[in-house]
Amino acid sequence: MAGSQHRISVVGTGYVGLTTGACLARLGHRVTCVDIDAEKIASIEAGRMPIYEEGLAEIVQSGQLSGRLTFTTDLIGSVKGAEFVFLCLPTPADEDGFADLTAIRKVAQELRGNLDPGCVLVNKSTVPVNSARMISELLGSDDIAVVSNPEFLREGSAVQDFLNPDRIVVGADSPIAGEKVGALYLGARCPVLVTDPVSAESIKYMANAFLAMKISFVNQAAEFCDAVGANVIEVMKGLGFDPRIGATFLSPGPGWGGSCFPKDTRALVASARAVDRPMTMIEEAIRSNEIHIDRTAALILDAAGKTGKSHPKIGLLGLTFKSNTDDTRESPALAVIRRLVGHSVELVAFDPLATTVSIDGMTRVRSIDDALREADVAAILTEWPVFAELKPHDFSGLMHGKTIVDARYLLDSESFANAGFRVISIGR
Ligand code: UGA
Repeated sequence: MAGSQHRISVVGTGYVGLTTGACLARLGHRVTCVDIDAEKIASIEAGRMPIYEEGLAEIVQSGQLSGRLTFTTDLIGSVKGAEFVFLCLPTPADEDGFADLTAIRKVAQELRGNLDPGCVLVNKSTVPVNSARMISELLGSDDIAVVSNPEFLREGSAVQDFLNPDRIVVGADSPIAGEKVGALYLGARCPVLVTDPVSAESIKYMANAFLAMKISFVNQAAEFCDAVGANVIEVMKGLGFDPRIGATFLSPGPGWGGSCFPKDTRALVASARAVDRPMTMIEEAIRSNEIHIDRTAALILDAAGKTGKSHPKIGLLGLTFKSNTDDTRESPALAVIRRLVGHSVELVAFDPLATTVSIDGMTRVRSIDDALREADVAAILTEWPVFAELKPHDFSGLMHGKTIVDARYLLDSESFANAGFRVISIGR
């Protein structure tokens, strides 16, 4: 590995930046992570991670101990002598759905004239097509190659995904710079696709849009199964044996969400309309996701209505957008709960990691038992393993009612039926 370790600056310590920096240090590179948020940097240096991400704290700590991973708020200082500068900056949706590139523009302007000749600027932020070109213009130097290197990290398994990628995509006008970036991922046993920047930027959007569309399809299939009496879980199992479809990412749920799919699908839709090639399938995937969230909420309200009580209590399990993360951004669980607020119901919710979120009209409690106690209806909204392990006796001693809406298809409905419970899921 000698000679293959490089000096790298990673700008932005969100979940992508921090994971990227720590993992690059794990691969042997000398990495400085930089962020404008001094409090965040101090906290990371002291071993407190800004987000929950499995294995991240450990890998950050080992990087610090090895001396290969350092943190700073000094952007210009961090890029002195750097051979590669990674941009891992937020690109939130603006009011028209387009990705807001303010943070990227600002950093690129600050870096102008401050990068060493030959330095490669690697953009990992999810950005619209042609952003590499825009960054290059802002940097204003022919000596600096700008390379697009989208990330495919899933929250909750970002460290694993970084260290065992299924592919590395590099978009570069200069093939040499592209090869150099691909070579940073030491030991990765996966295809490395070196292509042009516009194609690399498109791959990221298309991948997320395709995955979101897949879940919208699965959830619509669940609604069809519901109407005709089929079991969506069996149906998806049957589909999954076909390698052209694949057995993963076929779980029905309350709808898709998170910090990426909603933002990226909206950005792709906006970009596609802007070039007069509307991606109507993605528009429909977004629309049907909203309808599916409505249906999930309606199912819970219907179960609450059937209790005959004037103000039934609903015990809600799960607030994060998926399990193994503390992230509630655009969480379908919260979207469902917001649709329940204002109806004549009492809402009590528990989540293992979302311990700060608050919604007017909902009380957050500290345990599953507290959420289920005296509940007339229970609803599972996030697929936490601890919810999948629940047995009928965990509910029966606490709940008043006998109805559980299982929006994540976790419970074995037969054993619950034998214990006198009705487990309801769309299409099962
Ligand atoms: C997603 C992509 O999967 C990553 O490849 C990508 O790098 C990342 O966005 C990003 O752009 O940074 P993530 O947002 O962490 O990752 O979440 P996913 O695991 O993809 O789940 C997204 C949503 O779909 C969640 O609400 C999840 O519950 C839902 N989902 C997923 C289902 O309802 N069913 C499934 O079978 C899978």
